[in-house]
Amino acid sequence: MNIAIIGYGKMGREIERSALERGHNVSLKISSKNTHEFTFNNLKNIDVAIEFTSPELAVNNINICIESNTPVVVGTTGWYDKFNEISTRVSENNGTLLYATNCSIGVNLFFKLNKQLAQLMNKHKEYDIKMEETHHVQKLDAPSGTAITLAEGILSNNEEKDLWVKGGSKAQNQLSVVSHRIENVPGTHQVNYTSAIDDIEIKHTAHNRKGFAIGAVIAAEYIADKKGIFTMEDVLFD
Ligand SMILES: NC(=O)c1ccc[n+]([C@@H]2O[C@H](COP(=O)([O-])OP(=O)(O)OC[C@H]3O[C@@H](n4cnc5c(N)ncnc54)[C@H](OP(=O)(O)O)[C@@H]3O)[C@@H](O)[C@H]2O)c1
Repeated sequence: MNIAIIGYGKMGREIERSALERGHNVSLKISSKNTHEFTFNNLKNIDVAIEFTSPELAVNNINICIESNTPVVVGTTGWYDKFNEISTRVSENNGTLLYATNCSIGVNLFFKLNKQLAQLMNKHKEYDIKMEETHHVQKLDAPSGTAITLAEGILSNNEEKDLWVKGGSKAQNQLSVVSHRIENVPGTHQVNYTSAIDDIEIKHTAHNRKGFAIGAVIAAEYIADKKGIFTMEDVLFD
């Protein structure tokens, strides 16, 4: 495949390495220094674009991909308040979009496990649920998109909690999501069920960015010949 990387930063560079390892070409790489090259003409021969920039840039970049008929994998998080607008644009243009708060295969298995555990714990109201996430200090959004996906997975499967809140909360119906920012941490997410008798914890620790990058390239391979809106769940459990 011929891949475009929109956002040639920490993730973009890692994605390039993974794409080349999997036998693809990366013929267009866009950073803040060459945005003038992000044109319909340069997208003509691109099979899939992979977008990892920042929350305020993602929507415009996705629109350019959709309007130029380029399937796009979006790893950028923090833009989901505009999801309906994007979804309409994808339908109107018969386009292709895959979005993922986290592209890593391990995290997507963790998402599934998290939902199953939340359901299992419904009968055991003596356990309180809390979440924590830790990322590097450059991360712009908090809580992370991955933490929000985990929180939503709990809310939709557990009767005790009906709202997630940033930081600590003592209200029984609220799921507290605490964010930590520490130098050089690629991403750690933890869900804790605590009772007076014992604790149950599930935790995903990314050791580096490679898992996100390989997942993004696998997602690109998956959508190259498809139309519509997809998530990593489609890639993994289709
Ligand atoms: N879904 C996942 O699995 C996953 C995993 C990790 C991270 N993320 C998310 O991915 C996003 C990027 O993370 P990162 O760590 O790679 O950030 P980063 O290192 O800051 O990279 C962002 C890149 O975007 C470029 N950029 C700036 N303006 C642009 C524009 N107008 N058009 C195109 N590119 C532009 C920047 O260019 P310059 O280099 O010139 O400044 C930079 O190279 C974040 O939202 C992060 O939360 C998602």
